[in-house]
Amino acid sequence: MCGIIGYIGNRQAQSILTNGLRKLEYRGYDSAGIAVSDGTSIAVRKAKGRIDVLEQQLEQSSVQGQLGIGHTRWATHGRPSDENSHPHFDQEGIFSIVHNGIIENYLELKQDLLEQGVSFTSETDTEVIVHLLARAYEGDLVTAVRTVVKQLRGAFALAVMCEHEPDKLVAVRYASPLIIGVGQGENFIASDIPAILEHTRDVFVLDDGDMAILTKDRVSLHSMETDEPVVRELVRIEWDKEQAEKDGYEHYMLKEIYEQPRALRNTLVGRVDERTQKVAFPGLNLTPQAITGIDKIFIVACGTAYHAGLVGKYVIESLTQIPVEVDVASEFRYRRPLVGKNSLTIVVSQSGETADTLAALREAKRRGSTVLAITNVVGSSIAREADDVVATIAGPEIAVASTKAYTSQLLAFYLFAVYLAQEKLALSEQERKQLIQALKQLPEQVENILDNADHIRSFAESIRHEKNLFFIGRGLDYAVALEGSLKLKEISYIHSEAYAAGELKHGTLALIEEGTQVIALVTQAELFEKMISNITEVKARGAHVLGITLEENIELHRSVDEVCLIPATEPLFTPILSVIPLQLISYYTSLALGNDVDRPRNLAKSVTVE
Ligand code: AGP
Repeated sequence: MCGIIGYIGNRQAQSILTNGLRKLEYRGYDSAGIAVSDGTSIAVRKAKGRIDVLEQQLEQSSVQGQLGIGHTRWATHGRPSDENSHPHFDQEGIFSIVHNGIIENYLELKQDLLEQGVSFTSETDTEVIVHLLARAYEGDLVTAVRTVVKQLRGAFALAVMCEHEPDKLVAVRYASPLIIGVGQGENFIASDIPAILEHTRDVFVLDDGDMAILTKDRVSLHSMETDEPVVRELVRIEWDKEQAEKDGYEHYMLKEIYEQPRALRNTLVGRVDERTQKVAFPGLNLTPQAITGIDKIFIVACGTAYHAGLVGKYVIESLTQIPVEVDVASEFRYRRPLVGKNSLTIVVSQSGETADTLAALREAKRRGSTVLAITNVVGSSIAREADDVVATIAGPEIAVASTKAYTSQLLAFYLFAVYLAQEKLALSEQERKQLIQALKQLPEQVENILDNADHIRSFAESIRHEKNLFFIGRGLDYAVALEGSLKLKEISYIHSEAYAAGELKHGTLALIEEGTQVIALVTQAELFEKMISNITEVKARGAHVLGITLEENIELHRSVDEVCLIPATEPLFTPILSVIPLQLISYYTSLALGNDVDRPRNLAKSVTVE
């Protein structure tokens, strides 16, 4: 996610803004900038790259003034570049704005502005807002902001300043976090607490639909909709710096597990056309004609991203009948894969820098395949070299163990599979609408699981001394079992295996003995009876079984020792829900063992070497 900071007070703004942005560096970014008003004009300094690059600019040409805004950009619309970095400003440089989020309808708004003769300097959705402001302004900044915000759809946290009104800052929050820091003779805007913690511990946490108007001596909170004053509790932050960076969570991994509903909502933004109830990928190069010409799809990735690809296979084949082959990148790149010009190769990578996956992308392109990347980093090598990108909008993932990126990758596969099927006319309108409705419910369903997860911690603590654990499942549940097993191994260091449940009797059942811990995933109704048989097989050898199943499968209780229930959804979409308990089990087991949850031994977040 992008980082925002704003300042208005009696001190020079420049260093407060740049130091505040440095406190947001942990969120990940690809460019940074500030805008400062000296009371008569606004000066903007911004650049692609680290904050050091911005500070070198400021050493050559500093900016004076006691009012300003700053931004670290995590590219979603438009590649990392000087022009795309924030703050953005209108043609006359009267207004300046920073933004965190996605403006879903920016293309139509931009088209209108272009037709009115507005010239753009960037590819961003944000720049649309500041040009709309310039056209809506009739002498009152707050009114202009309210007028413009009513035209926007999507997720946005904004900080706005205007040359004509150098005594105020305006902030707006809708679906992207924003706080107001209250100081003595100075006030602050920030997307996250660490940016302002050294100046004040008293903050208002804005709600969706709130507008804040800051002067150096006063903060007033209003409803964007009605302009009525709103009352928000002034919260005293007692966290230290490190706790603040984790939003109060003990580890980044837990923070990122609990960020999944927002990551899913952000990944959905702009991808369902509400009017037609069709999936849309604005800017996708793959044409409907090219889609009908695809005779095979290859999915290539590493680790958790590979496990997402296994789910992608099931979903794409089920909805489109296009054959799909999934491979780990380190195998694909050396096995002379039979990809050709009628193949679509989908490479999946959170970081977009994994060496094996990048090499696989190049091998697929060399053999004539079109390549589409599903990645969380828009400016990454994989994103740049792919023919098409479907970005996950999970925000920076800091913990080595991938959680929110994985579920966002699953959502990207779901959206893309429905898109392929709708373009191939392989879905009826009713089927398509039903699937899209189910996708929209997933973020809230994940929230429900997370809100009722206390029993998972006690189970995790009960298995912390196990030497071996077994995950079993069939179909999509087997794909999720593989991910659950990897999560447990990589952060608890407990050995575990994931088996296709039907395989047990072909050898691995020999491993089951009295007290062996087994986690069985049982979410696919058509395989339910088969799974009951497999659970009975392992129980008969003394296994202790935790069943993860749908709320309506109450009869499973009779077959297992413990059960973890998840809400029902479209069968194809259950992996996004069934993986949540597995993520939490791995987290709490690792925590109980006193491991370094965020930085497990021997592992790196991005494997940029073979
Ligand atoms: C995730 O939990 C793992 N740490 C690891 O397997 C990771 O998924 C893999 O290295 C691929 O990384 P990428 O998605 O950045 O390409």
